[in-house]
Amino acid sequence: MTQGLSRGLTNYGDADFSLYLRRTFAKQAGYSQEMLSKPVIGIAQSTSGFNPCHRNFPDIIEAIKRGVLAAGGLPLDFPTISLGESFTTPTTMKFRNLMSMDVEEMIRAQPMDAVVLLGGCDKTVPALLMGAASADVPAIQLVPGPMVPMPFEGERLGACTDCRRFWGKFRGGEVTQQKIHVVEGKLAATAGTCGVMGTASTMASIAEALGMSLPGTAAIPAVHSDRLRAAEASGRQAVQLAISRLRPSSIITGPSIENALRVLLAIGGSTNALIHLTAIAGRRGIPISLRRLNELSDTTPVLVDLKPTGRHYMSDFYGAGAIGAVLREIKHLLHLDCMTVTGDTLGERLAAEDPWVDRDVIRRFDQPIYPQGGLVSLFGSLAPNGCILKRSAADPGLFESTGRAVVFASLADLAARIDSPDLDVKADDFLVLQNAGPTSDAAMPEAGYLPIPAKLAKAGVRDMVRISDARMSGTAYGTVVLHVSPEAAAGGPLALVRDGDRIRISVSEARIDLLVDEAELASRRLTLPAAPALPTRGYSRLYARSTLQAEEGCDFDFLRG
Ligand code: FES
Repeated sequence: MTQGLSRGLTNYGDADFSLYLRRTFAKQAGYSQEMLSKPVIGIAQSTSGFNPCHRNFPDIIEAIKRGVLAAGGLPLDFPTISLGESFTTPTTMKFRNLMSMDVEEMIRAQPMDAVVLLGGCDKTVPALLMGAASADVPAIQLVPGPMVPMPFEGERLGACTDCRRFWGKFRGGEVTQQKIHVVEGKLAATAGTCGVMGTASTMASIAEALGMSLPGTAAIPAVHSDRLRAAEASGRQAVQLAISRLRPSSIITGPSIENALRVLLAIGGSTNALIHLTAIAGRRGIPISLRRLNELSDTTPVLVDLKPTGRHYMSDFYGAGAIGAVLREIKHLLHLDCMTVTGDTLGERLAAEDPWVDRDVIRRFDQPIYPQGGLVSLFGSLAPNGCILKRSAADPGLFESTGRAVVFASLADLAARIDSPDLDVKADDFLVLQNAGPTSDAAMPEAGYLPIPAKLAKAGVRDMVRISDARMSGTAYGTVVLHVSPEAAAGGPLALVRDGDRIRISVSEARIDLLVDEAELASRRLTLPAAPALPTRGYSRLYARSTLQAEEGCDFDFLRG
């Protein structure tokens, strides 16, 4: 069987010459003939000076290589696109699919028998898993681990829920300019991804729940020596995968996707993760129905007491039993025959685990934090294809409510008017943002967490109903309706909302409706501007032409399985 460096030869019209030339250049790197005959383990690594969440990667890569070598493989790392959340404009979401194409094609184009996928900041894990699911070469996911919160003035701080909390205080006048600069240096004090159950931690948890990461590795803090042992073990396991040929297509299946959805709900995970999981599943041709999500959500309680909605940080979660403890608690709801990268089924994994759990952080199934899953989809005349509310992070007092729309036509309009003293807005109004969806120029930024208008914030208002086709950071919280589909830029009903319209939401009925009669909406539709011309060239043109809506994971139409 062709393996190692003999795989996928460069085409010179003479296979023997191609292999000879490849060995020549491999030897340029100083490898012996013996090393070049071993299984090759690629390490797809997303180190970047523009991605400080990944700053422990040099140590992790060294540990992965140690594990590969110890198990008899040849480790070869290669760079991928890296997506640092706050360093990328207009948003990392625009480039997730590009990174996934980079990952897929470089796994396929280079000779490797298995690959370790190394990424952690929000979009990198989805992009790695999407690419690996498409390439379908044996693969194992490893994350850098969450950062550790640090003490500051009598409390602990960790990105990024505390970032938002302090920014809210600053906007409300409770924190000075001088103090906010001090806080900037305290919020992300160690290597690693955001230290709460935001998108990065949620995607790490989902990777483990899917069976694509080694058991127990999702939540190990970035600075803990266990993280390096996990890296070494992942390198070793990659060699076993190279031998067993267990591929992502045997691990990412309909039942394992449903397991991952259960975990997403039980951990009160990020709304973004739903888009990413949908995209990952889509690469294997597995649809995720938002109505099925609601069925799962109604029967899966939130069990973990973590920020952004609870009290604890990811490092506490690790000490409390982490994803293994959550999986054991919802075991009766899971498909236990799903295969994992270890070659064991999920059921075999759980049967072998230490049952210890800290109930202060991870609750019993029958004593949950929240009786239903963290996410719920709403449907109705405002969102015919659905939208998402993170109900575990929202104010239940607003779940059955009707409000007057205060509409912002774009992010620029929002920025220009949200703090204006002249803005006609009251605390029980619904803030509506248009044209921030997947195919808009804004490329679906995490702008759905609209700021409370300054004059209301100063009056003590901390939450309002906010509705948009945008996304929200996994570290944010509030009564925020997201991913409205079809989006405004695609001519969805959201584009037809005008100041003063009445909107009704009902979480109990899973509905969201624009209370405007059909004739009026039809006449408004005639006044909508024509769709803008496609960008003339490059990736922006590809993105604008091929991006699907939120309920299809915002993947490119030509990449789905
Ligand atoms: Fe990288 Fe939050 S900014 S994980």
